[in-house]
Amino acid sequence: MPESKETYDAVIIGAGPVGLLLAVCLARWGYKIKNVDNREIPTLTGRADGIQPRSLHLLRNMGLKRQIMAHEPAKVYEVAFWDPLPGGKGIHRTGNWASCPKFIDARYPFTTLLHQGLIERVFINDLHKNGADVQRPWTITGFNNDGHDEHYPVEVTLKHVQTNERETVRTKYLFSGEGARSFIRDQLGVKIRHKDPISHVWGVMDGIVRTDFPDVKTKCTIHSDHGSIMIIPRENDMVRLYIQIASSTDKDFNPRKRATLEEVQASAKMILQPYYIDWDRVEWYSVYPIGQGIAEKYTIDHRVFLGGDCCHTHSPKAGQGMNTAFHDALNLAWKIHLVEGGFAKRSILHTYETERKSIAEDLLNFDAKYAALFSRRKPSAGEVGAANESKEAGEVNEFVEVFKSSAEFTSGYGIAYGPNQFNWSPDHSAQSHLFNPKGNALRTGRIMPPANVTRVVDANKVQLEQEIPLNGSFRIFLFAGVPSTTQRAVADFAANLEKQSSFYSSFQRKDIAAVSYHERHNPHSRFFTICTTFAAPRAQLEIAKLLPPILARYSDHVYADDVWDPRFPDAKAAAHAKMGLDVGMGGVVVVRPDGHVACVISLVEGGGTVDALNEYFGAFVAKKIGKSKMQAHL
Ligand SMILES: Cc1cc2nc3c(=O)[nH]c(=O)nc-3n(C[C@H](O)[C@H](O)[C@H](O)COP(=O)(O)OP(=O)(O)OC[C@H]3O[C@@H](n4cnc5c(N)ncnc54)[C@H](O)[C@@H]3O)c2cc1C
Ligand SMILES: *[C@@H]1O[C@H](CO)[C@@H](O)[C@H](O)[C@H]1NC(C)=O
Ligand SMILES: *[C@@H]1O[C@H](CO)[C@@H](O)[C@H](O)[C@H]1NC(C)=O
Ligand SMILES: *[C@@H]1O[C@H](CO)[C@@H](O)[C@H](O)[C@H]1NC(C)=O
Repeated sequence: MPESKETYDAVIIGAGPVGLLLAVCLARWGYKIKNVDNREIPTLTGRADGIQPRSLHLLRNMGLKRQIMAHEPAKVYEVAFWDPLPGGKGIHRTGNWASCPKFIDARYPFTTLLHQGLIERVFINDLHKNGADVQRPWTITGFNNDGHDEHYPVEVTLKHVQTNERETVRTKYLFSGEGARSFIRDQLGVKIRHKDPISHVWGVMDGIVRTDFPDVKTKCTIHSDHGSIMIIPRENDMVRLYIQIASSTDKDFNPRKRATLEEVQASAKMILQPYYIDWDRVEWYSVYPIGQGIAEKYTIDHRVFLGGDCCHTHSPKAGQGMNTAFHDALNLAWKIHLVEGGFAKRSILHTYETERKSIAEDLLNFDAKYAALFSRRKPSAGEVGAANESKEAGEVNEFVEVFKSSAEFTSGYGIAYGPNQFNWSPDHSAQSHLFNPKGNALRTGRIMPPANVTRVVDANKVQLEQEIPLNGSFRIFLFAGVPSTTQRAVADFAANLEKQSSFYSSFQRKDIAAVSYHERHNPHSRFFTICTTFAAPRAQLEIAKLLPPILARYSDHVYADDVWDPRFPDAKAAAHAKMGLDVGMGGVVVVRPDGHVACVISLVEGGGTVDALNEYFGAFVAKKIGKSKMQAHL
């Protein structure tokens, strides 16, 4: 008798940031998911609260930024640094700096502070729109990749936490977003490696305070003769205080050391002298012991995956936990989509661990450095001031260096994935000489920089990098330069895309005849969207005259590179200048579904540009494409 268990594309355990973001992406893209959480209700208070600049950029790309902003979060633009006054006279401000300094080209150069529960609710509401929900309070009791069903190889058993009601289902993928304590990770025998032997116990307190401390509405790091505090402003007049209660560098360190709310408040009062502080209300208080750890594997069989806190834990001070969780989920989501959508080979799933584990390693290294910087050593006022200056001002001081490189990383814009089948390098199997044209300023594996352009159809000034929503498609940016000089190359590009064997035609939508006239992003293929940007004023651009039909079909994605950019004040075509692409030549930039640059190719007359794209995609798509397919037909 064949088994007739309910089947899913993905079963996701845990509805924290990592589980929810994965669930939202897959539900939006039409996959059948089951997301369970063992808590009866979503997070009400406390826990993580910092959305970093790149994460907000991502939420904007998902169309969720508005819902986040509707909660009127605090926005942190600056960090203030306070140190002891000599002679035990209390504390004074020794410097302040931008929390996202100018050398980072960020759309939103601030940290958004909002408690985790409100952020989770935004995702949960989005799940509802797509007919999904979180099943509570349910937990996992077992799983087995037994392969009994080749399409749904993993069996999962679940249990209602209170009634013990049980359910057995089959799934293509099982994901653990269970947080630091994970049943799935333990069952798999995946070990956590502890990196920095230093551990800390922190007290964290959210509340509404009265104080004459002047920087209570900005982020502060305060060192005093009585201990250290971090202050983080929040939504609804709330303030979060982190207070270090114990550190393994203390002589009498006890990792179980606890402190009562009153003790922590008393020590906050001491640290903030000569200023006073009192609490109207305390919303949340927790003692939070932190050890650094990283999971040795993120998957064993590429069916059962781990992500978020389940894979990496570290101190909360730089507000990275939730953000790293978002990017873990995003990275896995589009890769699952490419495989299950029939686009890419299953082997691409290996890149989830290689890409995300290396970021977690970077994070833990940074975290250890950050702890050393802020907990063990007290920087002098001069050093703090220097961190404020621009990049060109001469880089000598290690403190400043660490601050700068960390600021880029913590903002999320420093995330750089290494070379692999997605991120072109000279070692990639695609070897056309057209890759990585001389002068281009893009770095594969990094986020595509932001650029303002004018949309031709409606003359709106738009953010080019945000124009394609996060829906699992590759983004092909054709920088078409000056129309009169590139006309031929653009025509050849279009003609070669149309060839039956091209990467593009090979993944034409099956339902192409039924595609809506109004489909703006994916009229031809679910896996590609093409944007064309000309280096010309909008008034000179006539889409139907300039573009062959295959490109003109994306008429909502045709832009004029005619918006002034403060970073390139002399450039006539700032977006081209920013990408380092010559306006006489143009170029093609392929961006992964998550916004990271995949490869850059010269735009040339003839078939070379599309041949290079065929080679690039040929490295990982599930079909034979390009020349080899043509030969097979002969
Ligand atoms: C008590 C606490 C305090 C924290 N404080 C801070 C802070 O002050 N600052 C900061 O930056 N970060 C803090 N964090 C970390 C931050 O919340 C995480 O980095 C972030 O939420 C990571 O998201 P995640 O989805 O991986 O895990 P989590 O947010 O931990 O989500 C895991 C979810 O899975 C559920 N779950 C776990 N096991 C099972 C199971 N077997 N079956 C079903 N469901 C399960 C949990 O109930 C939870 O909802 C805190 C975490 C905790 C637990
Ligand atoms: C940091 O820069 C801001 C703005 O440029 C300036 O007002 C402030 O005084 C600087 N702080 C220090 C410590 O140099
Ligand atoms: C891509 O995303 C947009 C917006 O979320 C949606 O309208 C469109 O249908 C998506 N396309 C596909 C093929 O999923
Ligand atoms: C884009 O335009 C906005 C609004 O005018 C401006 O604040 C921003 O600096 C511009 N960004 C870029 C990358 O040019």
